[in-house]
Amino acid sequence: MTLYGVGLGPGDSELITVKGRSVLESADVVYTPGRLSRGVAEEYVSESQLGDLDFPMTRDEDELRRAWKAAAAEIAPTAREGTAAFVTLGDPNVYSTFGHLRRTVERFYPAVELEVVPGVSTVTAFATAFGVEITAGSELVLREADRGAAPIGPDRLVLFKVTDVPTTHEKLTEAGYDVVYGRRLFMDGHETVVTDDPEALAERDYYTVAYAEKPGTDEAPATAAFGTETEADGGAIGDQLAAAESAGDGEAYRDGEAQGR
Ligand SMILES: C[S@@+](CC[C@H](N)C(=O)[O-])C[C@H]1O[C@@H](n2cnc3c(N)ncnc32)[C@H](O)[C@@H]1O
Repeated sequence: MTLYGVGLGPGDSELITVKGRSVLESADVVYTPGRLSRGVAEEYVSESQLGDLDFPMTRDEDELRRAWKAAAAEIAPTAREGTAAFVTLGDPNVYSTFGHLRRTVERFYPAVELEVVPGVSTVTAFATAFGVEITAGSELVLREADRGAAPIGPDRLVLFKVTDVPTTHEKLTEAGYDVVYGRRLFMDGHETVVTDDPEALAERDYYTVAYAEKPGTDEAPATAAFGTETEADGGAIGDQLAAAESAGDGEAYRDGEAQGR
């Protein structure tokens, strides 16, 4: 019937969505592409529900196509007769292996229905882990920075696959960026590191993300400055607004506040 691509979130089993969890619990077979995703899935499914798939660590395109055809051939019968789920860390549609599976199934098994359950992606989770706010209207670009690469240009960058932190750091700081790194964010059973010291992350670890920002690019949002108002003033204004709302004048009151009354 259906093959679900389920996003597990960054690796904390409590950061899966309610829908993702319920799909996993009711799936006939849950396929996992790696040890970390399997560890999260195991929190919600029994050992007998888990399906094994083999993926070669290669960039060879022919070998990759063969591996994905084999994976699709393994999954398609389950998905035709019942429900199969394929899990990925983060979101299935963000820099994810699920894209390979989806394209292969669409091409060779068009009768299989596909549905995606989104997950909390590192591209958003980093902001909470780093205590960063991406304010409305900001430009934010997602790129890869593997093997010492450092894409530069945009004011704010989220960089995946930062496998050589010191080299990437040198290039980014030379280009004028402030950079923070996060390793194994929100990942059960693993040490999380958030740092701006590249030497602390000199050892390679694929699960490393960076946030690079050009200083001085922040536009202050309205709530960044309240002048000399106190909490008591806020209460008084809140009471006036509540009174105006109940008299049907809330909109006019808020307009007046916005214009400095
Ligand atoms: C192939 S991408 C997968 C992204 C995933 N689909 C998502 O939405 O987060 C792998 C990259 O995501 C980043 N990543 C994934 N999970 C992470 C985590 N828990 N902590 C830090 N980085 C993570 C790393 O940069 C890693 O190299």
